[in-house]
Amino acid sequence: MKEYSVNAGPRVHIQELDSGTHAAFSRMTFPRYRSKVTEVCPTHHLRLAAFSRDKPIGLLLGEIKALSREMEILSLFVIQGERRKGVATALLQEAERILVRNKVKSMALVFMEKTQTPHPLRPLLASQQWNSPEIRMVSCFSPKTLLSRGPWVKPYVNLSPRLVLKAWVDLTAEERKSVYREDAPEVLKPNPKDRTLEPVSSIVVFEGKLPIGWMINHEIDSDRIRFSHLWVRSGISPRQLNGIALVGHSIHRWAESPACQALVFASMNFQAHNRPMWNFLTRHLKPYLDDIRFSFGARKELTER
Ligand SMILES: CC(C)(COP(=O)(O)OP(=O)(O)OC[C@H]1O[C@@H](n2cnc3c(N)ncnc32)[C@H](O)[C@@H]1OP(=O)(O)O)[C@@H](O)C(=O)NCCC(=O)NCCS
Repeated sequence: MKEYSVNAGPRVHIQELDSGTHAAFSRMTFPRYRSKVTEVCPTHHLRLAAFSRDKPIGLLLGEIKALSREMEILSLFVIQGERRKGVATALLQEAERILVRNKVKSMALVFMEKTQTPHPLRPLLASQQWNSPEIRMVSCFSPKTLLSRGPWVKPYVNLSPRLVLKAWVDLTAEERKSVYREDAPEVLKPNPKDRTLEPVSSIVVFEGKLPIGWMINHEIDSDRIRFSHLWVRSGISPRQLNGIALVGHSIHRWAESPACQALVFASMNFQAHNRPMWNFLTRHLKPYLDDIRFSFGARKELTER
């Protein structure tokens, strides 16, 4: 057990989680990572717990990628009342020490930030000589009652007569396969094993048998949909197939369909360097959102001292 003396507070112990101590720490990470707190997989996970005397006060949860020898910090958390005492700093330093010993080459983490509020991690990472965080994704959030009011939320009526728009729920097995086979960027393609695809609002446009565009969405919680992947084949002009009209059609289906009644909240992610989506966001989408966040990625290369 490593003992740290942090900013004038009581002594803080940092230790790797063992099977007896994890229960109190599950609540210190996101629901989707809770199983990783209890799983014992020392080669892939780093689970560092902070205690003040015997009280659990912080958790760093990391996943080590075998190929790249990089550790992604999945979450870093310190309980209220124990913050600003150097606990997260101690967790990061201890993680670094263990990773260097195990020949891991770098650490990375992603955090979300609101427009006007710098994240507390910024000065913390800077003090530990991490690289400057770089913007990655834009995430928009809205309740159905607000988003569905957008004047561009309507059925796609001006579709070229050569094109056919179908909802995922109505696609044949062969048509679905043609989507999986399409030479689109992997991050924008639906995954055949994904059980969370929302089939009523997800739509695909075909020219003959060829998919030339889609909006694929996911049910990410019992009450939340994510408008996930907008793709239009390169070389197709907006006159032939307009991406924003596709988004409007998809949102319209979600807003109107009884099958989506329980999905009352929406989120939408896009890459920060996607100019057309930025323009759409600033010109049309913004009044119908209640929150916009940016995700940043930060890294630190690890070297032996
Ligand atoms: C972010 C978080 C982990 C920081 O934990 P912490 O133990 O308070 O951090 P430290 O005490 O080690 O802070 C070190 C430095 O970071 C900066 N910092 C930490 N919290 C800050 C805050 N709320 N506002 C501004 N700067 C802050 C300060 O520069 C601080 O040094 P100082 O106290 O000497 O000024 C903690 O606030 C937290 O759990 N937040 C919620 C979860 C979260 O956002 N996790 C990160 C994404 S996964």
